[in-house]
Amino acid sequence: MRAAPIPEVLVADSYPANQDPGSSRDALGLGSSAGKGLDVRHGTILTLEDINVSFDGFKALSNLNLYIGVGELRCIIGPNGAGKTTMMDVITGKTRPDSGVAYFGETFDLTQMSEVAIAQAGIGRKFQKPTVFEALSVFENLELAQKTNKSVWASLRATLSGAQLERIDEVLSTIRLSDSRQRPAGLLSHGQKQFLEIGMLLMQDPQLLLLDEPVAGMTDAETEFTAELFKSLARKHSLMVVEHDMGFVGSIADHVTVLHHGSVLAEGSLEQVQNDERVIEVYLGR
Ligand SMILES: Nc1ncnc2c1ncn2[C@@H]1O[C@H](COP(=O)(O)OP(=O)(O)O)[C@@H](O)[C@H]1O
Ligand SMILES: [Mg+2]
Repeated sequence: MRAAPIPEVLVADSYPANQDPGSSRDALGLGSSAGKGLDVRHGTILTLEDINVSFDGFKALSNLNLYIGVGELRCIIGPNGAGKTTMMDVITGKTRPDSGVAYFGETFDLTQMSEVAIAQAGIGRKFQKPTVFEALSVFENLELAQKTNKSVWASLRATLSGAQLERIDEVLSTIRLSDSRQRPAGLLSHGQKQFLEIGMLLMQDPQLLLLDEPVAGMTDAETEFTAELFKSLARKHSLMVVEHDMGFVGSIADHVTVLHHGSVLAEGSLEQVQNDERVIEVYLGR
């Protein structure tokens, strides 16, 4: 935990007018449809500019610039140690950058928000290792995920509304676990636990989903389903997916960013970056 609480109240329109980063961006914006309740007037859901993070003098992120468009499905690739996880840590408030700009939509300054406030604003993160409650049923896991967003008082008022039940059913179907709703989560396969955790994220209705190596350890069939699932979530949500599995990346990505030494080495379609000499040099090998 952080020593001092960070104010969760944010000032709208806190960009100085002459620094509005809305122009000259290369994010693949898809309009504002996926930015429910969020100010995404420039079609960009995430803005990272000149982000620097050092650990004991080592630069994990170095003048990193990255923009994610509303509804986009972006893949992030790059060698180990490139700064991919650190970038997600900055976005979720786990790590404070030494300098730089990090905005969610136009008004949420991520560098000034607590992790809880960032999650509540609509950024959901899935870590590599699934962290479901094994003793609880699949249904109960989703129920709990739905409640964590609410006040304790709201959580104590036990019964679920029809709309909440409907939402759980919808998510169960999305993650293909409708038939396992009463199973203890501990009995699910590794892949199913991953899907359940994605379902738990979806219960919070995040607008931006960050997924760190989601198909590591999955079977081919599970990997294929994950690709389908992510494609079905894009447009309605924006997704940032860190993954090493190039077959998987090729099957889902609109747009690929290659990180190296804490900054962007290349960006474009998978084909473009795969043919980039510098990317071949540092990551794909010859
Ligand atoms: N909390 C930390 N303390 C010290 N060094 C760290 C910390 N987190 C990450 N690093 C270092 O920063 C670099 C980037 O790490 P990371 O973001 O995990 O890379 P990636 O996810 O691309 O493999 C690595 O060299 C790593 O050792
Ligand atoms: Mg990592």
